[in-house]
Amino acid sequence: MQRLFILLSWLSILLLSACYYDKEGILYPETANCVPTASPSFLNEVLPLLNGRCNNCHGGNSPSANIRLDAYAEVVIYANNGSLMGSINHSGGYSPMPKNSGKMSACEIQKIQNWISAGKLNN
Ligand code: HEC
Repeated sequence: MQRLFILLSWLSILLLSACYYDKEGILYPETANCVPTASPSFLNEVLPLLNGRCNNCHGGNSPSANIRLDAYAEVVIYANNGSLMGSINHSGGYSPMPKNSGKMSACEIQKIQNWISAGKLNN
């Protein structure tokens, strides 16, 4: 009887975590199909992530902290000075981003890191 109970507990934990990941895919559709290729495209892969998670604050004419992340030339500034990855990774010394929202998924973070490692191409 006790064994059955333990088995059922594990099953419900598995089911609950499956729901959790489903929800993440619905909340952030870009997470669902995330594949961190070695050299992601800025236009097709990096910018949509920033538009989805950052640019309600960091886009347009009066961006938060005067930091714009909606154009290549702007994003490169923060990729170069380390604050883009510092804030996304929640590293010490940087404001954790996205502000007041869940951390980007490991795959999304890896994608942006790979774009930087591959030379921050305007591709
Ligand atoms: C809800 C609004 C909001 C969102 C969403 C948001 N930011 Fe920010 N961001 C801010 C504000 C406000 C600041 C100024 C510092 C602070 O208040 O924490 C800031 C600061 C920053 C900084 C400077 C951090 C430092 O310590 O130098 C970077 C880089 C940054 N944001 C990148 C991002 C990225 C990348 C995303 C998306 C993953 C993002 N932000 C999402 C509002 C936002």
